[in-house]
Amino acid sequence: METPDLVIAPSILSADFCRLAEEVQAVQTAGADWLHVDVMDGHFVPNLTIGLPVVESLKATTSMHLDVHLMIQNADVYAGSFVEAGASSVSVHLEACPHLHRTLHQIRDKGALAGVVLNPGTSESLLRPILSDADFVLLMSVNPGFGGQKFIPATVEKIRRLKRIMEEENTHLPIQVDGGITPETLPACATAGATHFVAGSAVFRRGDYSEAIRALRNSVYKTAA
Ligand code: DX5
Ligand code: ZN
Repeated sequence: METPDLVIAPSILSADFCRLAEEVQAVQTAGADWLHVDVMDGHFVPNLTIGLPVVESLKATTSMHLDVHLMIQNADVYAGSFVEAGASSVSVHLEACPHLHRTLHQIRDKGALAGVVLNPGTSESLLRPILSDADFVLLMSVNPGFGGQKFIPATVEKIRRLKRIMEEENTHLPIQVDGGITPETLPACATAGATHFVAGSAVFRRGDYSEAIRALRNSVYKTAA
């Protein structure tokens, strides 16, 4: 059977912040592909996390792809600064960007991949006019703000519908899924067409990070068999 090419991105939101450098090193050694960095402002989502100085420190600490997920209002004001701080990709919420086209191009012009994110309640059809201006799409499978929430099953059909839109538009972008991803919820998303997976608690709340990442990767075989 062909090995599916999945990109597993542990979210540091569930890491031990007192030992962040060690935690990052540990998931890199354990086989993570990207490192997911959740930035929250207490306005767009009801939680506060980290900002530019932490991304700068991460950049100095690791060679991993830094995947910065902005859950902030005024994302267009800060997106470029996150690229300058070391982000390899920056994803912004359609719901937080009135000038989405400009924001995505600001990210690209500074040299990072530009991701566009949809909350669970936002229709994928809104992506149609903007697909060719983004490098990937992130579909939230929980309402953003916190780690450790339950996966919303309707995400699977949403991935399928988005794949159809991409076919019709002849613009094929990677689909990333974020929230409640576990070895139980990942396979249906992968079958529907997602290739990039964020996992916070399913990695950092497990004792053995290598085993946790392997379990996520190998879970696709459960349904494929
Ligand atoms: C939620 C964040 C996620 C979160 C995922 O708002 O965007 O990246 O860390 O955590 P889990 O995998 O525990 O749902
Ligand atoms: Zn995230």
